[in-house]
Amino acid sequence: MMGEMHILHTNSITAELLLEGVGDFRAMERRARVLEKTIPVSEELVVNLVKRYGTPLFLILGERIARNYAAFQEFFPGVEIFYAVKANPHPLILEMLARWGSSFDVASAQEIALILEHGVAAERMIFANTIKKKEALQYAREKHIRLLTYDNEAELYKIRTFYPEADLVLRLKVPTLGSRIDLSYKFGVEPEEAMYLLRLAKSLGLRTVGLSFHVGSPCHNPDNYRRSLEMVKVILNDSAREGISLSLVDIGGGFPLHTYYAEGEEASVEYMGETVYPLLKPFMARGYRVIAEPGRGIVGNACLLVTRVIGKAVHSGRVWYYLDDGLYGTFSAIPFDKASFTFHTLHNGEEKIPCVLAGPTCDSLDVIAEGVFLPSLEIDDLILVPNIGAYSLASATNFNGFEKPRVLVV
Ligand SMILES: Cc1ncc(COP(=O)(O)O)c(C=O)c1O
Repeated sequence: MMGEMHILHTNSITAELLLEGVGDFRAMERRARVLEKTIPVSEELVVNLVKRYGTPLFLILGERIARNYAAFQEFFPGVEIFYAVKANPHPLILEMLARWGSSFDVASAQEIALILEHGVAAERMIFANTIKKKEALQYAREKHIRLLTYDNEAELYKIRTFYPEADLVLRLKVPTLGSRIDLSYKFGVEPEEAMYLLRLAKSLGLRTVGLSFHVGSPCHNPDNYRRSLEMVKVILNDSAREGISLSLVDIGGGFPLHTYYAEGEEASVEYMGETVYPLLKPFMARGYRVIAEPGRGIVGNACLLVTRVIGKAVHSGRVWYYLDDGLYGTFSAIPFDKASFTFHTLHNGEEKIPCVLAGPTCDSLDVIAEGVFLPSLEIDDLILVPNIGAYSLASATNFNGFEKPRVLVV
């Protein structure tokens, strides 16, 4: 494990210190390159933090957020970044990104309010939920969040009533081949019906300014972007012929974790930049504003969970370890995001045996992983789980009275 890192703050008061320290995210990014490892903090730091704060602990690796944000800028120059708040809305993450100039993809009135609290101007937000409560539309109008997405007729009528002067973005259903979460299952108009909706919007006196899509998450297959952008091109041309002038292309999220330095891993943001960015250039050259809504790609690999063995049993010949975080907590990423994780202990070089890892609640559903090979563990041993930043804490609950992990930035 790697050496020195120190805790920069543990609550929002000391957050100021971190933010002052990381004003230059590029400097942080350079440091992060040097410090790159699977478990990017030292054993000593983990043990000290646990002594001080207990478990479970959710460690936000500020330098990785910086690195990931910088990577998007590097590999997608000119593409505006609207961080998808849903992936991890922790205020300290939002604060960093807001300071660095990111824009934000928000999905509800509450997310709008959260971003406004960070002093972000309304123009730096897109309300990218195709289904919006009318109260949320009214709130967006009051706060001047102009960019809204839609993909159906009923939404257009709702928008005409509650926010007729908004700038609309039509979301398309696109190929999501190979993506773990299919975000075109629930959303997006069939491309053949796009012109119908664009015309309807126009006839209702509404202004559509662009097209959007989401290739599913995470997406390691650049062909999904290629095929989506081909559809976009056809619809842009058709709409231009009908006098509907669109100026924005929103390529959504789906970007995989940024794994610059690990060899033999799945496609990284770097690879997607190499393959997808050239497809965007023609749009940019023709004057289209191109925006992206990365969530996972910014926070996925930037958080580490430290959880503790609180119980141990043998059931039907299998060893079970019960941890102080589970499926109703940070591991909610497993049912909701279909995620799987790797588990690390502080034991070195011992023989590994298969075990089951379960959460602390009284629900039998609360099983984190089976057939995991770990050294023999005792009560109070720690388990470290990297790459757990996206769609994890965001969906954690306090079910059964178990607290969500304490969040620290290191
Ligand atoms: C509209 C929209 N944009 C962006 C995202 C973020 O996607 P990802 O985390 O794959 O980057 C999502 C995820 O659900 C989404 O629904």
